[in-house]
Amino acid sequence: MVRIGIVGATGYSGQELVRYLLRHPHVQISYLASRRLEKPVSFSKMFPEWSGKVHLQCRPFKIQDAIRYCDVIFLALPHAVAMSLTPAFVKAGKYVIDLSGDYRLKSASGFAKAYQMRHADPKGLANAVYGLTELYREQIRKTKVVANPGCYSTASILAAAPLVKRRIVEPAGLIIDAKSGVTGAGKSLKEELLFTEMNEELRAYKPNDHQHMPEIDQALRQWGGRSLRCAFVPHLVPMNRGIFATVYLRLTRRVNEKQMQRWYEEFYKGSGFVRVLPAPSLPKTGRVAYTNDCEIAVRAAQGGRLAIVMATIDNLGKGAAGQAVQNMNVMMGFDEEAGLQ
Ligand SMILES: NC(=O)c1ccc[n+]([C@@H]2O[C@H](COP(=O)([O-])OP(=O)(O)OC[C@H]3O[C@@H](n4cnc5c(N)ncnc54)[C@H](OP(=O)(O)O)[C@@H]3O)[C@@H](O)[C@H]2O)c1
Repeated sequence: MVRIGIVGATGYSGQELVRYLLRHPHVQISYLASRRLEKPVSFSKMFPEWSGKVHLQCRPFKIQDAIRYCDVIFLALPHAVAMSLTPAFVKAGKYVIDLSGDYRLKSASGFAKAYQMRHADPKGLANAVYGLTELYREQIRKTKVVANPGCYSTASILAAAPLVKRRIVEPAGLIIDAKSGVTGAGKSLKEELLFTEMNEELRAYKPNDHQHMPEIDQALRQWGGRSLRCAFVPHLVPMNRGIFATVYLRLTRRVNEKQMQRWYEEFYKGSGFVRVLPAPSLPKTGRVAYTNDCEIAVRAAQGGRLAIVMATIDNLGKGAAGQAVQNMNVMMGFDEEAGLQ
């Protein structure tokens, strides 16, 4: 059995990792840690939903404990923490899957611009592989450090990649309108996320300024061979989980809907978690909740010069913990769907 550590086990993504990894046939959770504790506390006392299932203590995080107890370490921590820990894990020969933004961008200057701080491990950026499994499977197989993508990025890149790869998207022809459930913002207290502020509310935030934009640009540039200037407006909606991304792609030539549909089906053939829906079906967040699935539907508009691609995922599933487990499966040579069915 491969020994697993989850640092940030008390957070939303950490909890979701516990849920997936408990039913995984080839791993055993051997270390759970967070920041708030002064001494080890029974995990199932902190979270009664795990009583009878998790018999571990949650510990105050210590790097030496993580190295001692784990083969694979999931870092479900706020931005800027993983980059100070990962070099020690790499030196100790551990596998690391970081759910934060610390290793997603290839350039330290790009990171500094997006996150308003210097990168603490700029050399480590070259070794980390961007963990959008369907696009980078072969590289993930060979790495020990995976930068798990952001939730908006996962839905948006999966929606855009098949057309971007064909190089028929106009250079400034990519517009993303995406909505997220409130768990996407993490568990820490923020006034604007109180029930009374969120309930019956739909709001945009960080228009064209969200930290996921550079990683979307980076992945689509690698995939399409050239830069695409993207516009992106994220929104928060009063639901717990789910991302609904609608991606508009202005095309350099007319493409009919049947052709688009075939391209998407071909692109995701063999990818068990991505469902390209047959018309007239449309994606729903409820159908992908608590799963690692992504649903996609494609429509042609404006005489075939505009593609409208809709994608849904669970932000904590394919958008975080589910994809992290999928990446671990690829890194460790397990069945890609192990623990995720
Ligand atoms: N939520 C999502 O949908 C989502 C999707 C994709 C990616 N992500 C990324 O995944 C990461 C975790 O997100 P989240 O939403 O799960 O966050 P969260 O609910 O706020 O949980 C953060 C966790 O990190 C722990 N922590 C914070 N600072 C720490 C430190 N210095 N040392 C050890 N533990 C520390 C916290 O422990 P305490 O509780 O003890 O403070 C908590 O367990 C973030 O980088 C986020 O951007 C999140």
